[in-house]
Amino acid sequence: MSTFLIISTTWAVIALVLLIVAWRLVRVGRSVAHRNIMILLTVGAWIFITNYIFGQRYGGDFRSFPSEYIPWIALHGSLGLVPLIGATCLVVGRLMTGRNKISTHFNRHHKAYGRTFIVVWLFTHLGGIFNAVFMH
Ligand code: HEM
Repeated sequence: MSTFLIISTTWAVIALVLLIVAWRLVRVGRSVAHRNIMILLTVGAWIFITNYIFGQRYGGDFRSFPSEYIPWIALHGSLGLVPLIGATCLVVGRLMTGRNKISTHFNRHHKAYGRTFIVVWLFTHLGGIFNAVFMH
């Protein structure tokens, strides 16, 4: 396994656990802890994706996937963008509370969006762990 794969798989496992912890915390009323973990995970996800894109482009490691896996990889990447952008909207919405209509929208529907994004996010990490274990 390459260093990148080891780091990304470790991150996926940690993030999976933290997502569930953050969800459980808010269910028992610990919203500050929930908020802090979700901000950490969202920032972490952006760092991971940026590093991945630059690594692919400039890292010199151009190993390609077998062509039959390309639809799955495309699905995994596209689905991954949903909770990434969605979580960013939830975080920015909370941080800008009361300042504009978009934040009001995301704050009002925080629970519904949050539940949807967390499920897709968990699925994306499971997919990432699957990729690391079975494709390399
Ligand atoms: C990364 C983005 C976030 C996601 C995916 C997310 C997810 C969720 C989910 C799933 C729930 C509902 C729990 C349930 O009853 O099943 C929830 C509730 C809550 N979250 Fe977040 N959350 C995020 C960011 C934040 C941030 C930044 C704050 C800032 C304070 C926050 C504060 C709360 C609060 C107070 C609740 C309680 C119910 C409500 O306000 O609707 N969350 N969140």
